[in-house]
Parts: sequence; C-alpha cells; structure tokens
Amino acid sequence: MDKKDLPVFSVLPKHIGIIMDGNGRWAKQRGLPRYKGHIEGARTFRKIGEFAADLGVKCITFYAFSTENWKRPPEEVEAIMQLFREYLEEADDRIAENEEKGIRLRFIGERKGIPADILSLMELNEAQSSDKDKVILNIAINYGGRHEITEGVKDIVRRAVAEEISADDIDEQMISDSLYTKGLPDPDLIIRPSGEYRLSNFLTWQSAYSELWFSNVLWPDFTEDDLVSALRDFEKRHRRFGGV
Ligand code: FPP
Repeated sequence: MDKKDLPVFSVLPKHIGIIMDGNGRWAKQRGLPRYKGHIEGARTFRKIGEFAADLGVKCITFYAFSTENWKRPPEEVEAIMQLFREYLEEADDRIAENEEKGIRLRFIGERKGIPADILSLMELNEAQSSDKDKVILNIAINYGGRHEITEGVKDIVRRAVAEEISADDIDEQMISDSLYTKGLPDPDLIIRPSGEYRLSNFLTWQSAYSELWFSNVLWPDFTEDDLVSALRDFEKRHRRFGGV
C-alpha cells in the first residue's frame, strides 16, 4: 500500500499483541503438512508487522512459540525453529530496511532451552537494531505468561532475601519491571484469529486491561484489511480501566 493511501485512525493502540493461530488448520484444509501452514504464517507475520509499523503502531508483540509448544511432534517444532533461523539470518539484509523504518527487534520468553544458534541470532538481531526507536517488534519465543511471572517473583524474592527490599516495597510497578516486557506499555489490544476465544498464557500479567479482538480468519489468511478492522473496532471501544 502506498504511504499516502494508508488509513488514518483517531486513536491507535500503543501496543498490539497478536496470537498467530490457525496455521495447522490452514494447512489441513488444503491437504498439506502442518509445517506448510507455519511457512505461510511466517509470511503473514512479516506482512502484518511491516503494515502495523507503517500505520504508526509503536509496539507490536507476536506470539510465535509458547513454552507448551515443545509438546508438538519434533518435526513440527524443528520446522518452526527453521523459520526462526531463516528470519533471523536476514538480519544483515534488514539493516537498511530497519534504518528506514526504525524497527527495533526484541524477544521475550525463556532463553534457556532455545537452540544455541537461534539464541545467538536473536542476540545479534537485538544488538543490530538496539538504537532504533520508531517501532518495537517484539517476538515471543519460548514464552509463557505464568512462567514469566514465576521467574519475576523469584527475582523479587532473591532481592528480599538479600535484604535489598522488604515485602512492603513490592508493588505492581515492581512486578511489571520484573517481566520480560519491562519498559514496554501494556498491550491495549490483543488480536486472536482462528475462532479461538482465549489468551493461552499470552501476556498474562500485561493483558489485565487489554481490549480483545477475535476473528475466524486463520492466521495465514490474515490480511492488512483484517488489521484495519481490528483497529477500527478499537477506535470505538470505551476504555474505563475500572472507572466510569
Ligand atoms: C499456532 O497455530 C502457531 C504456532 C504455534 C506457530 C507460529 C509460528 C509462526 C507463524 C512462524 C513464525 C515465524 C517467525 C519468523 C516469527 P497452530 O499450529 O496451533 O494452528 P492450529 O490451531 O490450526 O493447529
């Protein structure tokens, strides 16, 4: 889409979370192996990430792999890991593009357990884009909301045991700051396609006041127009945060 044709919104979420669901069903409907759905899903991820950035969304988090996804058949896990590799290996090609778009790549999730070569590529991508400040493209890999909170609590308890803090010092800000998303705004909008109506351990603490948007479209079929629909609905929501 030409820059001048981009839709304009009266209000945009500061942070959008997206659960990329439905790749397997998309493949099954076509009689294809599941990994083909993930390949298509990765294309959609690139397209929607760039489009959201063009629209002016400052932070977008994609749920790419959960702490539970290791339970899938090994060949499917390997296919998803291979897609991460391919995306992360484009880091050098992306320097110019990121320069123009100002995209900073970040990853949230448990780093232990991620194959070492992927972890190095993640670190390289983070380092190469660390001075960009227009958009944060956040990818959740080996991420689980409950795991994140558990790890955060352990850190806080360690500080308490070391007598750096006391129990009364613990407040919501301290817990937010103990999470992988430290410094990022909470997601204002969470999008889940594929007809499932749950958050599946995604941004569990951070989603306390998120607006939720669901659609029946399977992730590989998700288009720029679907994102625009979600953002139009978001414009109309009255967010009261417990007030009136
Ligand atoms: C959920 O659909 C999707 C996943 C568990 C994997 C998502 C991964 C990608 C889209 C690749 C991302 C690539 C990059 C480069 C970030 P599902 O398999 O659960 O679908 P189903 O519910 O229809 O079976």
